[in-house]
Amino acid sequence: EKGGYEHFMLKEIYEQPRSVADCMRGRVNADSGLLVLGGLRDYVDKLAKTKRIVIVACGTSWHAGLVAEYIFEELARINVEVEYASEFRYRNPIIKEGDFVIAISQSGETADTLAAIELAKSKGATIIGVCNVVGSSIPRATHAGAYTHAGPEIGVASTKAFTAQVTVLAMMAIAVARKKGTLHEDTFRRLLFELERIPSKIETVLKTDEKIKEIAAQFKDSRNFIYLGRGYNFPVALEGALKLKEISYIHAEGYPAAEMKHGPIALIDEEMPVVFIATKDSSYEKVVSNIQEVKARKGKVIAIVTEGDKLIPTMADYTIEIPAMHEALIPLVATIPLQLLSYHIAVLRGCNVDQPRNLAKSVTVE
Ligand code: F6R
Repeated sequence: EKGGYEHFMLKEIYEQPRSVADCMRGRVNADSGLLVLGGLRDYVDKLAKTKRIVIVACGTSWHAGLVAEYIFEELARINVEVEYASEFRYRNPIIKEGDFVIAISQSGETADTLAAIELAKSKGATIIGVCNVVGSSIPRATHAGAYTHAGPEIGVASTKAFTAQVTVLAMMAIAVARKKGTLHEDTFRRLLFELERIPSKIETVLKTDEKIKEIAAQFKDSRNFIYLGRGYNFPVALEGALKLKEISYIHAEGYPAAEMKHGPIALIDEEMPVVFIATKDSSYEKVVSNIQEVKARKGKVIAIVTEGDKLIPTMADYTIEIPAMHEALIPLVATIPLQLLSYHIAVLRGCNVDQPRNLAKSVTVE
């Protein structure tokens, strides 16, 4: 059932070219300019008119929500707030009629997310679900939604569900932006074209697995890790750190790269690995100077870079290349090497990657 892989997690990481393609099947066609999310047909119009979207989720799904915040705000110019479901529900949140709430959940059973939905519904919000498990509790509690169609995720650490969530949310943001008129027709076409190419870009990154394994061997005994990224890659940094801590039990923190100097920089010495997501995007130069700051303090830098980058390899201790793509879609591909890095580190440390200690696949208690 693991299809020849040693663990479900590895199988699920490797399934991503297919699961992302499955998620877009029948929904995207760049040649004909098609973008439809069946379950949201009647809601795209309303979303285009809303002033505010609140996203509620937990864990990895919350990270997908952060990526969605950046995409929705940039493309559709809608104010988006991303909330931990557990905080939202206990805080008498401000929700008005006309507000939209997007709930993201792989399992569709997370107790806090479900409770946040019920609360928002009672205050008159329209609830959209982005879930993986068909017919689970969350999709049944929402007004409308789009499934991620990633297939069953068995490994406790979420991998293919995350990339499918980001894919669905990107499709939603693009559809809403087009309806709203904030997206140029050329950019719309280009984004569809770029979306269609994501599966093959993930495939390319999976081919660097041997190199990632070698890097993992260098850092398997580290006690701490820092992950840094800016813009669209800030949530990727958070997700990379979460993957590492949950399966390898190494303490890891993700930060926006610019926040480093407001505290975390004190942690950097020759023992500290710092993973940078340093792709060629609008924050590239800024991230390059953050890398210099880490190297000046003798930190060990592992950088995820865009194919062909000549500069960062002269500064970083290790680099992993990913193909170039539209900035908004980088998280879909930049996350893959971080999943593999955590996986190999955990395996080298002898950890049970599919069933890490203290964790359950779906958190149905609050
Ligand atoms: C991390 C992980 C958890 C879940 C979180 C939400 O790898 O799996 O952080 O993302 O418990 O679960 P869902 O998405 O099922 O609501």
